[in-house]
Amino acid sequence: MEYNIALVPGDGIGPEIVGSTVKVLEAVSEKFGHVFNFNTYLAGGCAIDKYGEPLPKITIDGCLASDSVLLGAVGGPKWDHLSGNSRPEKALLGLRKELGLYTNLRPASLQPALAESCVLRPDIAAKGFDLMIVRELTGGIYFGNRGRNEAGDTAFDTESYSVMEIERVARRAFEIARKRRRHLTSIDKANVLESSRLWRETVHRLGASEFPDVELDDMYVDNAAMQIIRAPSFFDVIVTSNMFGDILSDEASQVTGSIGLLASASLGDSSRGMYEPIHGSAPDIAGKDLANPIATILSAAMMLRYSFDLNEEADFVEQSVAAVLQDGWRTADIKSPSEESFLTGSQMTEKILYKMKLG
Ligand code: IPM
Ligand code: MN
Repeated sequence: MEYNIALVPGDGIGPEIVGSTVKVLEAVSEKFGHVFNFNTYLAGGCAIDKYGEPLPKITIDGCLASDSVLLGAVGGPKWDHLSGNSRPEKALLGLRKELGLYTNLRPASLQPALAESCVLRPDIAAKGFDLMIVRELTGGIYFGNRGRNEAGDTAFDTESYSVMEIERVARRAFEIARKRRRHLTSIDKANVLESSRLWRETVHRLGASEFPDVELDDMYVDNAAMQIIRAPSFFDVIVTSNMFGDILSDEASQVTGSIGLLASASLGDSSRGMYEPIHGSAPDIAGKDLANPIATILSAAMMLRYSFDLNEEADFVEQSVAAVLQDGWRTADIKSPSEESFLTGSQMTEKILYKMKLG
């Protein structure tokens, strides 16, 4: 089969990690006989420099015309003085909206080979965990009405959700739970927020009518922040709003001890998705070949699985990465503090490519 992939490397370490991932995808195409066509587009700070805006139309159109999008990361200190819609982050928010990607999947699990870098108490880490955060991505406070009063001394942002917005992301979460351990936890702040009360009602109505086979429970977001550290093995699939999902997914990723390994998928109603690592553009290490490419490589594996339905190919990439980690190879971000030596980003890429060749 032939697939057109839009590459949006972005800023900082983005181009390095996307470059590594293209090599991995090329190895997949060789082994399994697919054709991947790559087109590169600018978004974020680099687009501000070239076009004067973070998300130029040419990038939106290119992504819309592709079968899927692979994104690195956007932003950096060079553009930190910009405000509101001129910021690099606007590119991410805009792409999600333009592509209709209302569901964001952020898996976080403890890799057995990396248990030593897990920050949890050993008896908690010993139980392991494997959770999938389903974050609503195109609604809520990140897209709601905002502004300041005339004097400029009062500002507001609005959290607002419709039944339609809640239902479509919750349905996705239930379907995913059905393929896993059939346990869905909906996270909200229904003891305070009206939008959360609607969220909770809607998720329960949907569960009762379409997914009676999935165990559904609710948790307040403050408690959830605690339970992710105290008892992460409780969770299977989490579904939550844009802002709560943003915060809890950073927490969950840090709990694994290896944010450099964590992938994400953003999905809508079509098979076109956007795939990106959870981590940011890490400007402090950009251009030094220190960045860990694994989170982006695993994001590409999610693309193979969720957009192209190439499950065998996705398994192959994931297993090759796991095998390299099992062999003890580490980049700087995931090595244990006592370890002196580590691989550069391109050396790690070579190790993975070599595994793929053998596999
Ligand atoms: C993320 C990021 C973005 C978000 C920012 C950069 C807009 O933090 O992907 O989690 O909040 O969604
Ligand atoms: Mn975030």
